Amino acid sequence: MSAIVPEIVSCAQGSRYNYHHQFGDIQPLVDDLRRMLLEGHYVLSAEVQEFESAFARYCGCRHARGVNSGTDALVIAMRALGIGRGDSVVTQANTFHATVAAIELAGAKPVLVDAKDETFSFDVDQLASRAGGDIRAVIPVHLFGKPAPLRQILDIAGAHGMLVIEDAAQAHGASISGQRVGSFGTAGCFSFHPSKNLGAAGDAGAIVTNDSVFADRIEQYRSLGQREQNEHLVVGLNSKLDALQARILGWKLPQLDRWNRARRTVAGWYRSALASVPVSFQAEAKDEVHVYHLFQIRTACRDQLLKFLRGKGIDAVVRYPTPIHLQPAFQKWGWREGEFPVAESLARELLCLPIRPDMDEGEVDFISSKVRAFFDERFRQQNGA
Ligand SMILES: Cc1ncc(COP(=O)(O)O)c(C=O)c1O
Repeated sequence: MSAIVPEIVSCAQGSRYNYHHQFGDIQPLVDDLRRMLLEGHYVLSAEVQEFESAFARYCGCRHARGVNSGTDALVIAMRALGIGRGDSVVTQANTFHATVAAIELAGAKPVLVDAKDETFSFDVDQLASRAGGDIRAVIPVHLFGKPAPLRQILDIAGAHGMLVIEDAAQAHGASISGQRVGSFGTAGCFSFHPSKNLGAAGDAGAIVTNDSVFADRIEQYRSLGQREQNEHLVVGLNSKLDALQARILGWKLPQLDRWNRARRTVAGWYRSALASVPVSFQAEAKDEVHVYHLFQIRTACRDQLLKFLRGKGIDAVVRYPTPIHLQPAFQKWGWREGEFPVAESLARELLCLPIRPDMDEGEVDFISSKVRAFFDERFRQQNGA
């Protein structure tokens, strides 16, 4: 195991994403970036359009528009769809802060539903009971890489005239019955933060859509509302995908499917190695492809297990320890403890084990053996042995 431990230890020191592995033979990319720097290809250049076309094709959509970040993708999607003051937007209580912050930044009011115990995903029954009134849109989150229950959400949204904006920040390439996430709703919003399954070398994001009019509006909103130079039709953001980032993303995109397959293999190894351990996993449906941005295990003794694994040099982390409704930033909405009990218990019980496309079975076995050792020790203590 000596070859494995240092790699995991180095994870804890901050190099968990193994960018060497992601770039491979980097020289042709460096030559290209050098050319772009010297020729001044910086803003909305051909490289941006090339990546937008490739990413739209990858998602099975007609259009993609690159922006500064996944957060901006959500804000711009809402604003370009005319969502703002006086509107409400539903999302789930167990998401990353950005989903709900974006609703507020667009000027709308966030409304939450709880998660489901087995899927850690959007509770569709609660959506049905909240739909209507001033609710203009719903934002399902493909959390941890697992597709949200889009078909049911689309049915309810359709029946109540609500738009569906997918938060696909963690789920590039995930699919339901062969259709990629991002392509189901009016808009699919992606983050290319360096930690994501497809990551830039800094912040970046994109919106995908099949609606040409909406794609034009996104273009205006990401460019300070401009149609032509000095003609500003609306108040927008300055949030354009950087050309150098677009080139880097274009370099990596052809490898995304292979990396996602490798993540699924790693998740399979964990599931078998931990089958006898008292932890549960995020349920997978037969017709979906989960791309395991994060591999989560669920246990009531999460905090003790986290401490134990970290003591062994394993970079286990908690995503996310505080559900949205209990975050200080959202106090103004008057949500109370106990209001979204599943989101609260997921916040207490989920633990991410390391997952990267380049992990080998030895690393997974090593980490799993430590998880098993933790539960063996606990069992012995509880039984006074
Ligand atoms: C679910 C979710 N939504 C939105 C975002 C925001 O993306 P970004 O960090 O690129 O702004 C993230 C980023 O981690 C995310 O995980």
